[in-house]
Amino acid sequence: MKKKITILGIESSCDDTSAGVIQDGILLSQVTANQDVHNKYGGVVPELASRAHQANIIPVVDVALREAGVTKNDVDAVAFTRGPGLLGSLLVGTSFAKGFALANNIPLIEVNHLRGHIAALFLQEKNDPKTELSYPFLCLLVSGGHTQIIIVNSLFDMQIIGETIDDAAGEAFDKCSKVLGLGYPGGPIIDKHAKQGNPKAFTFTRPAIPEFNFSFSGLKTAFMYFIRDEVKKDKGFITNNLNDICASLQYTIVDILLNKFFDAGKSTNINKLAVAGGVSANSELREKLQQRAKKENMQVFIPPFKYTTDNAAMIAQVGYYKYMKGEFASQDITAKARFKEKL
Ligand code: KG4
Ligand code: ZN
Repeated sequence: MKKKITILGIESSCDDTSAGVIQDGILLSQVTANQDVHNKYGGVVPELASRAHQANIIPVVDVALREAGVTKNDVDAVAFTRGPGLLGSLLVGTSFAKGFALANNIPLIEVNHLRGHIAALFLQEKNDPKTELSYPFLCLLVSGGHTQIIIVNSLFDMQIIGETIDDAAGEAFDKCSKVLGLGYPGGPIIDKHAKQGNPKAFTFTRPAIPEFNFSFSGLKTAFMYFIRDEVKKDKGFITNNLNDICASLQYTIVDILLNKFFDAGKSTNINKLAVAGGVSANSELREKLQQRAKKENMQVFIPPFKYTTDNAAMIAQVGYYKYMKGEFASQDITAKARFKEKL
């Protein structure tokens, strides 16, 4: 009988320590330890993140292997996030993967975190039908650090046709959440309040950015001044209007993203639209994307909710493809916080 190919994936680019196991293209397990320690700071504190990764990585890998029903001796290769991300955080996953590969005498596979988010669209658990998504498609990659529109010709041939010139969409959610005194990450909290609010209650100015590029820094600043001025007039403004504020802010961010995304679809003549990254967990983005696509006769692909934010299943998925291509990294590879080259 042909031996099954088992890949262990490791993700530690930001504040989630995650391990996942894929066997012959099927996801067997995925375990993530979130870091609550950043909550009270309104953003990720890099030094605290890398310390928490160090504490979490071994237990997380141990549980992922056990949940998958495999041992370290069954693992054929270890795939890890090399970057982009926080250097101190990346170093923990990179060092662990290198040690694991060396100790078990197996190949090491480097994975670009953004490619991982896109690969999440192809994740398949046991008994799941295979995705109908085929190349080429257009992907809106929206996370805490990135906002890009990408033509995906294949997982290893992509062209970025638009991106943010300043803040990412996730950053806008997180920073506005901080202004409101809500926790971190801001996206899910704003999403929750927005469900009960009126999206038309307040209007925020939108950036005029050419082509398929985005800008969220102006919106963040306008939001900050708006809240400051309203609180000056009424101390209870935030508490009394929280749901409406969140709904109006979210409405604006989602509208900016989708207007550009649909324009890009029309202009490239690609009618398969996919989303990936942490912000694609947003309920309004998911809903509106589907509604608009239906109206405009386009197909939509959205990863399952649990694979939108950072996870190692998506890293193991890219690892599996690279293993099949025989693309391995050497032991002298280092973590990389920023990537300039194309995806
Ligand atoms: O992909 P991700 O987990 O990490 C990065 O690679 O950055 O994305 C994290 C981002 C954070 O900014 C977080 O606020 C945002 O995703 N996010 C959301 C939601 N869930 C997570 N934004 C809007 N709505 C959500 N439901
Ligand atoms: Zn991410």
